[in-house]
Amino acid sequence: MKLNNNYRNLKESYLFSEVARRVSAYAAEHPDRKIIKLGIGDVTRPLAPAVVAAMQKAAGELGDASTFRGYGPEQGYAFLREAIAGAYAEKCVSIASDEVFVGDGAKSDLGNILDLFDPACEVLIPDPVYPVYVDTNVMQGRNIRFIDANEQNGFLPLPDPSVSADLIYICSPNNPTGAAYDRAGLTAWVEYALGHGALILFDAAYERFISDPSIPSSIFQIPGAEKCAIEFCSFSKTAGFTGVRCGYTVIPHTVVFDSVQLSKWWLRRQTTKFNGVSYVTQRGAEAVFSPEGRAQSQEAISVYLGNARKISDALGELGIWRVGGVHSPYVWLRCPGGDSWAFFDRLLTEANVVGTPGAGFGKNGQGYFRLTGFGTPEATAEALERLRTVDLG
Ligand code: MLT
Repeated sequence: MKLNNNYRNLKESYLFSEVARRVSAYAAEHPDRKIIKLGIGDVTRPLAPAVVAAMQKAAGELGDASTFRGYGPEQGYAFLREAIAGAYAEKCVSIASDEVFVGDGAKSDLGNILDLFDPACEVLIPDPVYPVYVDTNVMQGRNIRFIDANEQNGFLPLPDPSVSADLIYICSPNNPTGAAYDRAGLTAWVEYALGHGALILFDAAYERFISDPSIPSSIFQIPGAEKCAIEFCSFSKTAGFTGVRCGYTVIPHTVVFDSVQLSKWWLRRQTTKFNGVSYVTQRGAEAVFSPEGRAQSQEAISVYLGNARKISDALGELGIWRVGGVHSPYVWLRCPGGDSWAFFDRLLTEANVVGTPGAGFGKNGQGYFRLTGFGTPEATAEALERLRTVDLG
């Protein structure tokens, strides 16, 4: 029996597991300390009342013989796919409900989509980056070419026409840096993809954090993207579903490579390997698009953005370079002292505050650090108070 030896090329542990391991070890040694976690991007606000009511109603239906449901459609119930297509229409993007695939979150779909592509495909990934893009390609033995994201390009790299690629990952607003591409930046990537016969895997998990209408919140707002992009969306950060689990992937039927409509192959893959998201969850997700659900989830997003702004302001007062926190819950800062993991340790031990070391997101993340606005306002304020009193030098 032979193993998939590509796993030998992975780092020992997944970034957020490593952070959690170090924090648990510290907490076990110092049980009296109150640790504030601004590390992994996990939400703290409860589900919106409209979502809870919809889920309770759906659970009631499942408990009644006349409305009970068993297996649902693998692609997701039509009521949710139609609500999602409706939300795209409001952005002036025409998406048919059968181009929407409901799943258990963007992370799973971002990894699973790779089933459709040959291991020899050339992959272009910005660095620093959400580690899932890298790890899932390494697991399949694909070669990765990294594009440098750095202070010089505002952590928003543009394509180099001389470089070839088959698959391109773009996350905007970006995890980890919080930077968001404007229309010109995304247009450059779409034109590059069309010119090179490449496919963009666009991670839009943070789209609802964009308040400025001039910043695209979907790649499909860029003409031509309907031929060269797949978009991954999530209810995790936008509606507090990190524990509930629901997301969706949009593959326009016009995305055709090698005479294959990728939407067909993805449906083929999903019907074989996936049995869909629970009815209760999908009813909850549908409620996110109701007028009450929208207002309530937007309120939570405003709280997170408020936290991020306060983090960014406090860092500014301390004279620390930072980006993000405007269209994103993440603030990306240059570590005083240089090394990301050393700064992580200093913050943990001296301020009992947890963040995510930039080095965990790639080589260009070394020397940087990510703080999230997903904490409660009280915890965030306390963390910033502690930061002000600690010697960060
Ligand atoms: C993060 O902190 O980067 C995210 O929460 C991770 C994820 O969404 O999987």
